[in-house]
Formats: sequence, structure tokens, C-alpha cells
Amino acid sequence: MSKQSIHIGKSIVLIGFMGVGKTSIGKALAEQMSRPFIDIDLEIEETFDMATTAIFDTYGEAVFRNKEKELINQHCQTPGRVISLGGGAFLQEEVKQQCMENALVIFLEMGWDAWQERIPEIIDTRPILQNKSIEEIKALYEARQQVYADYHIRVNVDTLQIDEAAQNIIKSLHQLTN
Ligand code: S3P
Repeated sequence: MSKQSIHIGKSIVLIGFMGVGKTSIGKALAEQMSRPFIDIDLEIEETFDMATTAIFDTYGEAVFRNKEKELINQHCQTPGRVISLGGGAFLQEEVKQQCMENALVIFLEMGWDAWQERIPEIIDTRPILQNKSIEEIKALYEARQQVYADYHIRVNVDTLQIDEAAQNIIKSLHQLTN
């Protein structure tokens, strides 16, 4: 398949644990492929006009997850986009199925050693990490790897810069569709 046909094809969905770089890599990928970029967390925050932590505190996780499902189902069926999901989106089986059927799912994988260095950067904005010990966070990280077991392409981002990760994804997309 040529770059042109990838360009007009299915949307690309980025999954992976919190803080692995889904938003920054998604933006770079969208730019390199000249596609519109959608960040689902940002869309949820704009809908409620609140930060994610405030949505969890005010309405609870279930309300956040419902809006997340609604927005992802809508966006992943529209071709030609790059869409970054929140790290918990694939906890919902329907979301996983919709994305696997309608889009190309890219799992951004990061090993625990590389990931734990990011904790100080992300902890304040991730309600799911708050009030947890490092052991509890590691258990969550491990449990979540099962959640990301369905994908079309996996890219390990332990040592990749943002643009390198985007290039790597484009290369893998060509291999997948050739
Ligand atoms: C969550 C991940 C977050 C955000 C919310 C819940 C999760 O997105 O959707 O805080 O359950 O893993 P990022 O993966 O972009 O941090």
C-alpha cells in the first residue's frame, strides 16, 4: 500500500499506559502524515470544561468512562485521523472492539524502568495514580499490560525521541499494509 493510501485509510489509534507519550507522539505522527489529530482526554476535558482530576472528583470515574467511550466510538469510525486514547480506554471491551475493527491500533510500549522515571512529571494530573504506593502503581502497570494485549502494531518507546517514535510507526504502517 502506498503512503497515499495509508493517508486516506483507517484512523490510527494510539494506546498505552499513562505518560508513555501518546499525546506528543500522536501530534508528531499526525503532523508527519498530514492528518488531523484528536486527543480524547482533551476532548473530554473540553466537554466538561474541567481537568480530568476535577471530572473524577465531581462526577466519578463512570461518567468519565462513558464520555470516553462515546467520543472514541465516534472518532475511530471516521477515517484519516490520528487519535490518542487515555491509558484506561481499553478497559472497556466495547471501545477495544470498535478500535480493533475500525482503526489501526498502535500500542506504545514502555518498560517499567523507563516508565517509573516519568512518575513525578505525571502524578498530579492522573487521578488513577494518586494516593498509591510505588508497589501499587507497579501492580497497576503490570495489570494494564494485559489490557493492551490487542493491537495491530507495537512500538517500544523506551529510548525513542518523539519524532523517532512517529517515524517508527510510519515504517511499521508501511510494512503492515504492503
Ligand atoms: C487514565 C489515563 C489518563 C486519563 C485518565 C485515566 C487511566 O490518560 O484518561 O486519567 O485510567 O489510565 P493518559 O493515558 O493520557 O494519561
